[in-house]
Amino acid sequence: MRTTTVSERERHEQASETLARLEREFTGESLFAQPGTGRREVVVARDLTRVYGKGDAAVHALAGVDIDITEGRLTAIMGPSGSGKSTLMHILAGLDQPTGGRVSIDGVEITRLKEKKLTQLRRDKIGFIFQSFNLLATLTADENIVLPLSLARRRADEAWRRTVIEAVGLQDRLTHRPAELSGGQQQRVAVARALITRPAVLFADEPTGNLDSRTGGEVLDLLRRSVDEFGQTVIMVTHDANAASIADRVVFLKDGRIELDEDRMTRDAIYDTIKNLEVPR
Ligand SMILES: Nc1ncnc2c1ncn2[C@@H]1O[C@H](COP(=O)(O)OP(=O)(O)OP(=O)(O)O)[C@@H](O)[C@H]1O
Ligand SMILES: [Mg+2]
Repeated sequence: MRTTTVSERERHEQASETLARLEREFTGESLFAQPGTGRREVVVARDLTRVYGKGDAAVHALAGVDIDITEGRLTAIMGPSGSGKSTLMHILAGLDQPTGGRVSIDGVEITRLKEKKLTQLRRDKIGFIFQSFNLLATLTADENIVLPLSLARRRADEAWRRTVIEAVGLQDRLTHRPAELSGGQQQRVAVARALITRPAVLFADEPTGNLDSRTGGEVLDLLRRSVDEFGQTVIMVTHDANAASIADRVVFLKDGRIELDEDRMTRDAIYDTIKNLEVPR
């Protein structure tokens, strides 16, 4: 029996090696674990450009961005107004197509997908949190939270649903509609809605932009915990040095390019960096 087990394992290893090699040949790089880290790159973007408009009026919103996002980390994207943060996020999330370059999410190149497949991929692999919460006014908190599953005709895993609801602390608000919730509570519903599908990556665009600093802090704590406790991968666009200081990595854009890319930064270091970036060249 023992020999069978070993040979099965060998076969399995051979199969994974073949798969990894094929994938490298297809994509020119491995999307599997990075050597030494045991972690994968969930989002891989190469040479992204995005031009709005034509001729003299053309705006180069992204002017050649390469970025890899490692799983289970919280990455903040910062930069002056107009530097390309929203453009980058929309392209990474498959909400907009780049003019040039490519993006893979969880090993799937999204820049080549047709709209239907792309919609499906967004539904299955991506979670969103917006500055303006974007909850459905006619649904209760609970219905809003499970909406992505209802849309995909998937049933909620009860244990996971309870875990998520407890994590966001909304146990006694589940039957309330958005208008009956505070801003902070509404954003917590949005966080739960984003986590319920266990997305490969969660995108947050200015998640604390409409909140006071205390409730904003609660939402940031939640995002941080989703990374630490559930291994969630999070990409957050923010103007707020305080928000970015909870990140494992801070990427600064300027004029559509990555200007600085640093691991964990203090609030003061982030603040100084922003000040320097805002000085016109
Ligand atoms: N739909 C569009 N048409 C034309 N130009 C656009 C469009 N969207 C964005 N831009 C331009 O592209 C550049 C990058 O915009 P983007 O919204 O990505 O910046 P941002 O970093 O998110 O800024 P903010 O911090 O103000 O949200 C800006 O110069 C902007 O004016
Ligand atoms: Mg923006």
